[in-house]
Amino acid sequence: MRNVTQSELFTQLEKHLSSKGCFLVAGKEQPNFMTIGWATAGIMWGKPIAMVAVRLSRYTHEKLNSLKEFTICIPKDGELGRELGIAGVKSGREIDKASELGFQYLPAQKVSVPLLDRCAAAYECRIVYETEMHEANLASDIVHRFYAEGDYHTLYFGEILACHQF
Ligand SMILES: Cc1cc2nc3c(=O)[nH]c(=O)nc-3n(C[C@H](O)[C@H](O)[C@H](O)COP(=O)(O)O)c2cc1C
Repeated sequence: MRNVTQSELFTQLEKHLSSKGCFLVAGKEQPNFMTIGWATAGIMWGKPIAMVAVRLSRYTHEKLNSLKEFTICIPKDGELGRELGIAGVKSGREIDKASELGFQYLPAQKVSVPLLDRCAAAYECRIVYETEMHEANLASDIVHRFYAEGDYHTLYFGEILACHQF
């Protein structure tokens, strides 16, 4: 595992988010992960920040609320499409995704949430701000298109404490 610059990872993250997604890992004793397509990375409060958007219904949402840390694991180009698909429809409430999909958890350096093996790169983040989305604050076309059934996202802003390339 080698440390890489944020800008290298920002580029990699953007590329994967706009195709099949990345993995968001949360929880410590019994970690869980899900596929994410919505995330941003940049500088806020003078810190490198990754923002992830997680709907209230997700098991991962519970995990993020009990331990304010997460990791984002980025697949190698063109790999793990099947795993991203399954992790994006199955809940950790029903299955142990790591054992079902053949992943091992690896220890992270700066947070207690683990990383996933078989990935190309990862961010380690500690949540420094979170906010729930509310209909009243959102453009009505977005409400109708994405929140017809409610289940709004919570936006979690994580300070990036470490970046890795495997
Ligand atoms: C390509 C893709 C991208 C996704 N992006 C997000 C996302 O950014 N936020 C979110 O809340 N759910 C997203 N999902 C849905 C979750 O991954 C899915 O509901 C998952 O089963 C939740 O798992 P959990 O209940 O174990 O947390 C996405 C699914 C796919 C297939």
